[in-house]
Amino acid sequence: MSLAGRVALVTGAAGGIGRASARALAARGAAVLAVDLRDPTATADLIHADGGRAEALALDCATEAGTGAMVARALDIFGRLDVLHANAGISGPLNPDLTVSAADFAEILRVNLIGPWLAIRAALPQLKPGAAIVCTASVAGLRAGAGGIPYSASKAGVINLVQSTAAALAGTGIRVNAVAPGLIETPMTAPLYADARARGREGRIGQLNPLRRGGEAGEVAEVVAFLASDAASYINGQVVVVDGGLSASLPFAPRPAGGS
Ligand SMILES: NC(=O)c1ccc[n+]([C@@H]2O[C@H](COP(=O)([O-])OP(=O)(O)OC[C@H]3O[C@@H](n4cnc5c(N)ncnc54)[C@H](O)[C@@H]3O)[C@@H](O)[C@H]2O)c1
Repeated sequence: MSLAGRVALVTGAAGGIGRASARALAARGAAVLAVDLRDPTATADLIHADGGRAEALALDCATEAGTGAMVARALDIFGRLDVLHANAGISGPLNPDLTVSAADFAEILRVNLIGPWLAIRAALPQLKPGAAIVCTASVAGLRAGAGGIPYSASKAGVINLVQSTAAALAGTGIRVNAVAPGLIETPMTAPLYADARARGREGRIGQLNPLRRGGEAGEVAEVVAFLASDAASYINGQVVVVDGGLSASLPFAPRPAGGS
């Protein structure tokens, strides 16, 4: 799973999963450009402290100008680009909201779906055979119940984005895959964790999945690093679910003990 000599660009790298992915890629030897709307310098500093190579760049990863600038920066600093982790995302309201405005819906699609597409489009001219693209989807993109309607629809779009792009890149030797996390403790889910802790219900987090716990960003990052590496050389157009088994089973109501 070595990424020595490779250059990786991670969007949303100031956040939980993006920061963990940037560190996991750097730990395998990649030089990393960490990009985020918020200043991702702290992520680059952590990588430096780990002994790795990284630079930070603050910009909007869901515009043509931003995605063009981040790819140009990676080339300027590191001279090449081999790995793109298109990870930046926003959740919007967590509960289904049938009254969501068109503008709010469009903004979630812009960041979560058009952003990864723009990042892929900007990166492609620089990617050579053996390069790898990983997008962060979500179990919310597989079925309902794990987010608001615009969020779930945007992540379903990401799943098809990797399938369609992998097909469109036939013959190039460039792989495109997605990770689909379940519930992971990050700044995005911090309010949910804080609320559960405040109510003394922390132990109930993640109880719907067979592992009966929430996940950690590093557990997603390890899968991103694998998909980015040559160890995943025959995995293409796939969605790898990292959810403790949540999406593997349907919800059911267990019988009370001793009940018939
Ligand atoms: N945390 C979870 O439970 C979970 C589950 C499934 C999928 N995801 C997905 O994982 C990805 C990372 O989320 P996270 O949980 O680490 O949350 P997070 O909020 O910590 O990270 C998201 C990062 O994206 C950045 N961002 C948002 N809009 C941007 C833009 N336009 N340009 C550049 N950066 C932008 C934010 O500043 C933030 O740092 C997201 O795509 C999210 O939808 C998270």
